Amino acid sequence: MKQLAKITLCTAMLATVTAPAVADEVFKDEINARQGYYQIIKYNFGILGAMVKGKKDYDADIASTAANNIYNLSKLNNGMLWPKGSDNSQLDNTKAKPGIWENFADVKQKQSDWQLAVEKLASDAGNDLDSLKKSFGPVGKSCKSCHDDYKAK
Ligand code: HEC
Repeated sequence: MKQLAKITLCTAMLATVTAPAVADEVFKDEINARQGYYQIIKYNFGILGAMVKGKKDYDADIASTAANNIYNLSKLNNGMLWPKGSDNSQLDNTKAKPGIWENFADVKQKQSDWQLAVEKLASDAGNDLDSLKKSFGPVGKSCKSCHDDYKAK
C-alpha cells in the first residue's frame, strides 16, 4: 500500500515536472515523418508550379516525373503517422488540428478528392504545358481545402 502511494506520487510529480518536454517526444517520429512526407510533395509540386507560372521552362520529362512522384506518394498508406493525440492542442511540433480526429470522414473525403486530382495531374503533366496548367489548379485547391480546415497557420 505504502509502495503504491509512493509510485503514484512519483508519477504525479513526473507528470508535472516533465510533461511539456515529454509531450513533444511522444509522437516525434510520426510527426517528423509526416512533415517530411509533405515536404517531398511540396518540392515536386513546386517544380510544376514554377512551370505553370512561367518561372521555369516547361519540360515534359521533368513535369511527368514530378507529377508521378506526387501520385506515387498519394498512394502510400500513412495511417500510422496520424496517431490520436498527435495534434497541436497538446504539442508544439505539429500544425495538425484536433479536428482531424473529430471529423475523420471529412478528412478522408478531402484526401480522396486530392488523390483523384493528383491522378489526373500525373496523366496530364507530361503531355504539354496547357494540360499541365489545367490539372495543376485542382490539385492546388485540394491541398488548400484540407489545410484550411485541418492545418494550423
Ligand atoms: C487531407 C489533408 C491534406 C492534404 C490533401 C494536403 N495536406 Fe499538407 N498538411 C496537412 C496537415 C494536417 C499538415 C500538418 C502536419 C503536421 O504538422 O503534423 C500538412 C502539412 C503540410 C506542409 C508542412 C510540412 C512541414 O514541414 O511541417 C506542407 C509543405 C504541405 N502540407 C504541403 C501540401 C501540398 C503541396 C499538398 C497538395 C499537393 C498538401 N499538403 C495536401 C494536410 C493535408
